Amino acid sequence: MKIALGADHAGFELKEYIKKMLLEKNIHVIDVGTEGETSVDYPDFALKVALLVSSKEVNRGILVCGTGIGMSIVANKVKGIRASFVQDIYTAIQSRKHLDANVLALGGRITGKGLAEEIVRVWLETPFEGGRHQRRIEKINEWEKKTQ
Ligand code: RB5
Repeated sequence: MKIALGADHAGFELKEYIKKMLLEKNIHVIDVGTEGETSVDYPDFALKVALLVSSKEVNRGILVCGTGIGMSIVANKVKGIRASFVQDIYTAIQSRKHLDANVLALGGRITGKGLAEEIVRVWLETPFEGGRHQRRIEKINEWEKKTQ
């Protein structure tokens, strides 16, 4: 599995923690930055990760900003992206089972490292259930085709 990882200054520390965790699991990581705590703009990094996922250069993306909200808003503007802003284990699991989320957005100022690690773990391990959920995703895809 290949994962694109991105963060702004507010998500940098958690991004580094997640990167280490993924590398320890022998997951191929493409880190698009940022590389420190100097203030940057979250849309720049959300777009880089979303485009890598959309073009299928990677399987999934993980984004971290202060709240996770800005990253998810931006990523969801890109065709084919279903970004989920997640703060707990239940929504991490549901975002995979029902939404087939391909981008995970986390809040570096909200979610501690221990919980974030568990969220990432279950988000990577939980498969999409398909069935009626696939039909619903097809409706999103049809809308995208009409509007983009
Ligand atoms: C940066 O201060 C902050 O606005 C950003 O990281 C994020 O929380 C936006 O959603």
